Amino acid sequence: MAETTRHELVIEVKNMCKNFGSTRALRNVDVSFYRGQIRGLVGENGSGKSTITSIISGMQKATSGEVFYKGEAWNPGSMVEAQKAGISMVLQEANTIPNCTVAENIFAGRFDEFSKFGIVNMKRLNAAAQEILDSFGISHIKAADSINKYGFEDRKLIEIMRCVSDDTEIFVVDETTTALSLEGRQLLYKLIHKLKDQNKSVIFISHDMDEILEQCTDLTVLRDGEIIGHLDRSEMDMPNAEQVIRFMMVGREIGDAYYREDYDSFHGDKVALELKNVTLGAIRNFSLKLHEGEIIGFGGLSGCGMHEIGRIAFGLEKLESGSVERKGEKIKGCFEAIQSGIGYVSKNRDTEALILEGSIQDNIVLPSESELSHATFISPKREKQMADGEIESFRIKCGDGKQWVNTLSGGNKQKVSFAKWTAKGSDVIIMDCPTRGVDIGVKQFMYGLIADMKKQGKSILLISEEMAELIGMADKIIIMKDFAVTKEFMRSKDLSETDMIEYMI
Ligand SMILES: Nc1ncnc2c1ncn2[C@@H]1O[C@H](COP(=O)(O)OP(=O)(O)O)[C@@H](O)[C@H]1O
Ligand SMILES: [Mg+2]
Repeated sequence: MAETTRHELVIEVKNMCKNFGSTRALRNVDVSFYRGQIRGLVGENGSGKSTITSIISGMQKATSGEVFYKGEAWNPGSMVEAQKAGISMVLQEANTIPNCTVAENIFAGRFDEFSKFGIVNMKRLNAAAQEILDSFGISHIKAADSINKYGFEDRKLIEIMRCVSDDTEIFVVDETTTALSLEGRQLLYKLIHKLKDQNKSVIFISHDMDEILEQCTDLTVLRDGEIIGHLDRSEMDMPNAEQVIRFMMVGREIGDAYYREDYDSFHGDKVALELKNVTLGAIRNFSLKLHEGEIIGFGGLSGCGMHEIGRIAFGLEKLESGSVERKGEKIKGCFEAIQSGIGYVSKNRDTEALILEGSIQDNIVLPSESELSHATFISPKREKQMADGEIESFRIKCGDGKQWVNTLSGGNKQKVSFAKWTAKGSDVIIMDCPTRGVDIGVKQFMYGLIADMKKQGKSILLISEEMAELIGMADKIIIMKDFAVTKEFMRSKDLSETDMIEYMI
């Protein structure tokens, strides 16, 4: 699959390597980007997509190799320098400046365009910002307002407006669309196509294969820090394109062994976790029995109460009445929950499930330690063994257990938040959106793990916004709406998403 050369070359990466300690994030990468293209960049979590784009846009330096931008050696010292030279990037995380106006955010670093004798003409600044906002149909955002007034999605849009100006030559979108609603996404699509039509170059990173196939003009696939190949538009239009791309991404057939293959909902007789007449806020008299070897799925729209059920089951909430019981004993808080063998994979991975400013090893051994800290001393050697064992069995992509969790890609972070419970040997695991934001390879791995846990007689509460995942994995699916159960489905080949939606809305 030859890289297309119809368009004019704008930036060229040659023989680039990037190491983080012993992790080889990029290995001899050669890739060129052209004007008038929207280039999709795909690859599993940790394959090196963000590393390439962050080097191009001045966030970090390569270990070796060269970049040529408009024919000249390119070595930006910072993102600001890169943006001034026409290369800008929007990231997944929020990146606006608080306590400033919308206009100040849009023109951050470029006030000189609006100043005379050191005084900024606010009126002109606001008018110019409003013009940009209006031109993209986001007139509901007012340039003179404080940014604090706006929510996450609007801030993301404001950030995007900052990243594109008349001088933009290369616009990088790194996993931004997951943060946007359909409307926000449409806006971004419109923007990248406009840039393409203006003969600029767009680099688009996304997990969403449909989006990539619809929006991009070509595609580059990465695996383990290496460029695996390129597809042009005609190849992307082939009926089996998606399979080809996935195969390139993971280096093997994904096949059908994705979800559980069996359709019997057989489980043990013993109750592993019970919620008895739980009442808290809008949740009234909620009861549930989770058996050994059983996977119970929870589905519903956001705000239906299913995430709260997960938190309650892990002892994170103080109940008004009712109880959470494990083996006949009441669980009164999350420490008791952990001690009794319950684990919890939070939906808010970065704020609740992990200590980001800690090593992989610290995170993995944490639940095991809190239990034993006052009784026994776990030797550093034992800790290392425990962590190394999990790193290996989970195939966590890292240098070693000492690497900080905040340097891992989303999928690998999620593996760590699972691994800490398997290391602890927890028998009941509550998972809240466990595969959110992780790519297909990691997803498949997690489904395999969940199926294995069931076989071992462990019990799982799988709370998920993805109906296909519930249908594919759960023995029983409980649908919630407005904090109450509206329907229960047993595992069945014939169950469809439409059957479920009816009870959610
Ligand atoms: N600051 C860092 N420190 C250590 N390792 C890192 C750092 N940034 C990225 N990595 C590692 O480099 C590899 C590539 O990461 P990344 O480019 O973020 O992947 P992607 O964007 O494709 O998910 C991963 O193994 C990741 O863990
Ligand atoms: Mg990334």
